[in-house]
Amino acid sequence: FDEWVRGGGDGNSGFGGGVIEEVKRKAAYQAVDHHITNSVRLIGIGSGSTIEYVVERLLQRGKEANANFVFIPTSFQSRHLIVHNGLTLGDVDQYPEIDVTIDGADEVDENLNAIKGGGGCHLREKVVAEAAKKFIIVADYRKNSKTLGEKWKQGIPIEVISFAHTRVIAELKKLGCENPTLRMAKAKAGPVITDNGNLVIDAYFGLVNSPGELLRKIKLLTGVVEVGLFVDMTDVVYFGNADGSVSEK
Ligand code: 5RP
Repeated sequence: FDEWVRGGGDGNSGFGGGVIEEVKRKAAYQAVDHHITNSVRLIGIGSGSTIEYVVERLLQRGKEANANFVFIPTSFQSRHLIVHNGLTLGDVDQYPEIDVTIDGADEVDENLNAIKGGGGCHLREKVVAEAAKKFIIVADYRKNSKTLGEKWKQGIPIEVISFAHTRVIAELKKLGCENPTLRMAKAKAGPVITDNGNLVIDAYFGLVNSPGELLRKIKLLTGVVEVGLFVDMTDVVYFGNADGSVSEK
């Protein structure tokens, strides 16, 4: 649990030192500095390891500066980050419309469409992203691509109800995915269970030239709860680059 909260449990990247962590931090700091201003109050907090640097930056401002903000979580991890750092917790039921959401991503294409759900949180992440007037992604340069599927080879995360997972795998094969895989917990003791009590299938479709079309096809499969394709949702992406700079996309 601690490893997850520290950012290592999503299977993507570990919290710690090194160039990658440094550029993730820079991207996150820039997003906070540009968008978490006194003109916003309700803030969605995404999930994953890069988000930890968003919270780190907020905390540097001190308690008083954060007192007017309400933070809406997208996962168990993100709720834990908010609560245990003394930030004010809100709920999307209380605030169905929020000002800004900042989240990480597994890959972002040239049109700012994204693959998300490397940590299995994409259902709640999408709800909170859609609730926001502005949706911002923070990531390192490894996630920056022209076309989805170019860099993130693990597949598109698809949350499914347990009862339907074998059926959904069969239907994903008909849609052209060669090897849809039920995501297993690291210890291989059983499948990964999402915060909503569901399972996750990772489905690699090669290069995704029409993410909107693929999203609609997968979402129509009975038993699918949400697909980790975020299409036409992102307003701006902050990438931490290998040379230490941050670029906006
Ligand atoms: C979790 C997500 C994360 O935002 C995504 O996996 C990126 O994580 P990280 O910042 O650790 O690379 O979508 O469901």
